[in-house]
Amino acid sequence: MASRAVIAGVGGYLPKRIVSNDELSRTIDTTDDWIQERTGIKQRHIAGPTETCAFMGARAAAAALADAGCGPGDVDAIILATATPDQAFPATALRVQAELGIARGFGFDVSAACSGFIYALAIADAMVRGGQATGVLVIGSEVYSRIMNWADRGTCVLFGDGAGAVFVRPGTDQDGTRGILSTHLHAQGTLGDLLYVDGAVGRPERSGHLVMNGREIFRHAVAKLAAVVDEALRANGLIHADIDWLVPHQANRRIIDAMGRKLGLSAERVVVTVDRHANTSAASVPLALAEACGDGRIKRGNLVVMEALGGGMTWGSALVRF
Ligand code: ACO
Repeated sequence: MASRAVIAGVGGYLPKRIVSNDELSRTIDTTDDWIQERTGIKQRHIAGPTETCAFMGARAAAAALADAGCGPGDVDAIILATATPDQAFPATALRVQAELGIARGFGFDVSAACSGFIYALAIADAMVRGGQATGVLVIGSEVYSRIMNWADRGTCVLFGDGAGAVFVRPGTDQDGTRGILSTHLHAQGTLGDLLYVDGAVGRPERSGHLVMNGREIFRHAVAKLAAVVDEALRANGLIHADIDWLVPHQANRRIIDAMGRKLGLSAERVVVTVDRHANTSAASVPLALAEACGDGRIKRGNLVVMEALGGGMTWGSALVRF
């Protein structure tokens, strides 16, 4: 059994098409000023017809494998978090398996909305430490543009499409203190009506659009996210000052700033992509991670805390030494 699982590589994929706030304001009653002031969002990427959940997930996964210096032969499990799969089944994870030419192992999808990546990472961590897998692709891939009510200005300005991925492996002796220190998951089903998709293949008579009570989500977000980060630190005997980087779920700049303040982190220690990506749900944390690892901000030895909250209501955190 491995003592710890490590994040050996990270990668991301963003659709080619960028849609600015001004472009949205041509079709719905909104303004660039309103969106930026309330959310910090300036633009989002929107998937084209061939940029499916599986396609984007596979591109992000391939980038994570390359970053780890590994290939398809090193993968024996794929865990893909999404609320917007291309099909009810097969699992999108298996479309990615086929696309990448991975010939062994297993895969499945995880449904935990915006917290999906943290949930998937927690499963991968347990499987690697338990000896059930030795190379796990953990992917968040989302095409929320397909479940938006594009006439609802209260929601459609907030989301974007994209995919992020990490490759998780057992740590080696040389890795020392490196790896996933702990993950912490929570859910409260009684809050399910604050953010949901109205319909699915089992309820085709419904709209299939995202519905949200933004104010209530906001109220829960900061308190629950701060608590779940503190829970992770406490579990490892660490304090706020030990954190090198916060990689938060990218829903809203005001939530991210409030989290940074609660943790006593300067703005330079918080990875922010929401201005350019908007909220990509399960893809938002791995996309932000890929950006900050790719540009050299997150370095070997850094302590990184990731957190997310989303529909369900679900929330969670992961504490990782890179
Ligand atoms: N453009 C212009 N005006 C708008 C828009 C828009 N896009 N959307 C709503 N408005 C109007 C409303 O109609 C309302 O007008 P009224 O006062 O005449 O009725 C006014 O702006 C205020 O609306 P509120 O919804 O009260 O605005 P609020 O300040 O709460 O901001 C927001 C809305 C940005 C959604 C905020 O509640 C929020 O960020 N909530 C968090 C939700 C979130 O991040 N969800 C993502 C999914 S969950 C997650 O990932 C954590």
